[in-house]
Amino acid sequence: MAALQYAETVQRITDTARIAATLAPLGVTLQAIPVTGAGVAALLTELQPDPEAQAALLTALDDVFRRLQRERGYQERDLVVLYPGHPQLAELTARFHRVHTHDDEEVRYIVDGEGVFGFVLEDGAQVELTVHAGDYVHIPAGVEHWFRLTDAQRIKAVRYFSARGGWTPHYTDRAMRSFPNP
Ligand SMILES: [Fe+2]
Repeated sequence: MAALQYAETVQRITDTARIAATLAPLGVTLQAIPVTGAGVAALLTELQPDPEAQAALLTALDDVFRRLQRERGYQERDLVVLYPGHPQLAELTARFHRVHTHDDEEVRYIVDGEGVFGFVLEDGAQVELTVHAGDYVHIPAGVEHWFRLTDAQRIKAVRYFSARGGWTPHYTDRAMRSFPNP
């Protein structure tokens, strides 16, 4: 279940409706989409799936993609797989664990493991949203956010795109406050 943690406080929200209401002014939405499909569970057990297994996993999850294509016009999808010892872990962490925006929306469907999205609320408060398998997150273009892994350093997430190229992070140089580990 997703949880929303405020920076430098013990304030933590786990109620789905309250999380949604807190993020709504940013246009950020969180939806629960059960991770199902033929063979999906078996494909998710692999910590480091090879390209063939990753393609099979995407295909097995394509009911969700087809629905999003119809509803939101996404054209492409791919899979992000991170795990302890991943060769680009430090590089990716450095890239996305800073406050940034994108020219395109950021859409993630977490299908295994967990991750943390940070946001700056309208009153300047900062929050971190911990997401797990079955959480679908939509961040509109231009919204300040960041992303990091939890200590488990394990996630598989499908990214949906309407166009390539909107992914370059634009750093806003806003300082991130400190958060306890989820
Ligand atoms: Fe981002």
